[in-house]
Amino acid sequence: MRKIDVFDTTLRDGEQSAGINLNTAEKLEIARQLERFNADVIEAGFPASSQGDFEAVKKIAQTVKGSIVTGLARSIKSDIDTSWEALKYGEQPHIHIFLATSPIHMTHKLKKTPDQVVDIAVESVKYAKKNFPLVQWSAEDAFRSDPDFLVRVVKEVIKAGATTINLPDTVGYATPSEYGAMFRHLKENVPGIDRVKLSAHCHNDLGMAVANTIAAIENGADQVEGTINGLGERAGNAALEELAVALHIRKDKFTFGTDVKLDEIKRTSQLVSQLTGMAIQANKAVVGKNAFAHESGIHQDGMLKERTTYEIITPELIGENSTQIVLGKHSGRHAFKDKAIALGFELSDEKITEAFKAFKALADKKKEISEDDLYVLLTDQQIQEEEVPVYELKSVQVQYGNGSIPTASVSVISPDGDLLQEASTGSGSVEAICNTLERLVQGKVHLLDYRVTSIGKGRDALGEAVVNMTYNGKSTTGRDVAQDVLEASAKAYLNAINRQLVNERKRSYAKTV
Ligand code: KIV
Ligand code: ZN
Repeated sequence: MRKIDVFDTTLRDGEQSAGINLNTAEKLEIARQLERFNADVIEAGFPASSQGDFEAVKKIAQTVKGSIVTGLARSIKSDIDTSWEALKYGEQPHIHIFLATSPIHMTHKLKKTPDQVVDIAVESVKYAKKNFPLVQWSAEDAFRSDPDFLVRVVKEVIKAGATTINLPDTVGYATPSEYGAMFRHLKENVPGIDRVKLSAHCHNDLGMAVANTIAAIENGADQVEGTINGLGERAGNAALEELAVALHIRKDKFTFGTDVKLDEIKRTSQLVSQLTGMAIQANKAVVGKNAFAHESGIHQDGMLKERTTYEIITPELIGENSTQIVLGKHSGRHAFKDKAIALGFELSDEKITEAFKAFKALADKKKEISEDDLYVLLTDQQIQEEEVPVYELKSVQVQYGNGSIPTASVSVISPDGDLLQEASTGSGSVEAICNTLERLVQGKVHLLDYRVTSIGKGRDALGEAVVNMTYNGKSTTGRDVAQDVLEASAKAYLNAINRQLVNERKRSYAKTV
């Protein structure tokens, strides 16, 4: 079987999705999980785009050793230099340089002639090769490029030293046969193409990203790019979990496959959803809540008689066993720590102690603690960044009756350490909390989106709130969990404010050094 490399860009193209802003600790946590998922390459970010991205890529390159770590760069020397400073710690330093090649991008965006584009591409690859052993070159908007121009530029960048050539369908316009034909055309016309890895990168604007990616493999692609849960610009990128499972389940048809650890899919998908705040649609293939649910009587009857009547993928294949009850009120620190290790967490004793306290508080209210609950508690500890003073919720109280005006009273500790208290009304309990918090935090808040969901099942399940807002004109997203959804909402609101404050502090620190 031909092995297809998996290039994960959740932390770069995925993180470009509207409303996502991950901090370094969260990115590192996702990168570690992608390593367990067995991604061959992890695109950890775009180092020259911001100080935050630079730090995250550097940290990931220093930590992750089981996957190649790369970062995106424009075809300019300063981007390549910055990328080197972040990526030189990797086991095999890898850079991903891109330049647009379609007439529409070259004319309107780059304002360059095709000849100039070839020169810039060649120069940037040669420059990157001085340090990087692995250089991936992407022809942005390849699918809408002139096929013969694509042949010319790809031939030149291979001569300049590129080790991977990526041909993206940047705007998700291709059909499977057309996208496959582009790969075949390059395979047949570029001398030396067999010496490099050929990569597919599809966007999902017309819902064909996974199908297009498979067509590319059938026509010579050796590497597939995509994201977990299909995150990404606009309608997203090819969903890697769908791709890996499709190749596995239909191995009767395909002569190629990936080395993805399929039983890490559920965990990876949940972690990405939890930390990005992007919910997974219930009927999403492979990882949606309903992907294995059988609702109609006829289907249930068939399943009881013989599972394969209606089930082509088993939940176990993707590691779905999270509803298991694993610990209870009487479990001790030892059992808790053992379970944390078994779930793959590497926490310091201090963090285990903090997580154990949170576990005990939860176990007092909720009899049985499931694997889902534990993942949330332990991940929250894992992603705690160094202590910086931010807003901290002390208490929240809401008075609600269907015949009265909802009123919230909230107290918080401010970043300066002062205890602040306020009360306010709203047309509902959540609005009353938001109105009160807006009075407490100094700045202008505009709420864009708000969502609550339950973690796991049962009436005592944890509630998770996600709040997307602009704070002082900048977009930010916060999330938090609690057993009560109103408390989770207040904490998620403050989490969004705090992320914005931490980012501002980092930006002003970067300016002073
Ligand atoms: O979609 C695209 O063209 C990209 C490139 C930067 C590779 O993401
Ligand atoms: Zn892309």
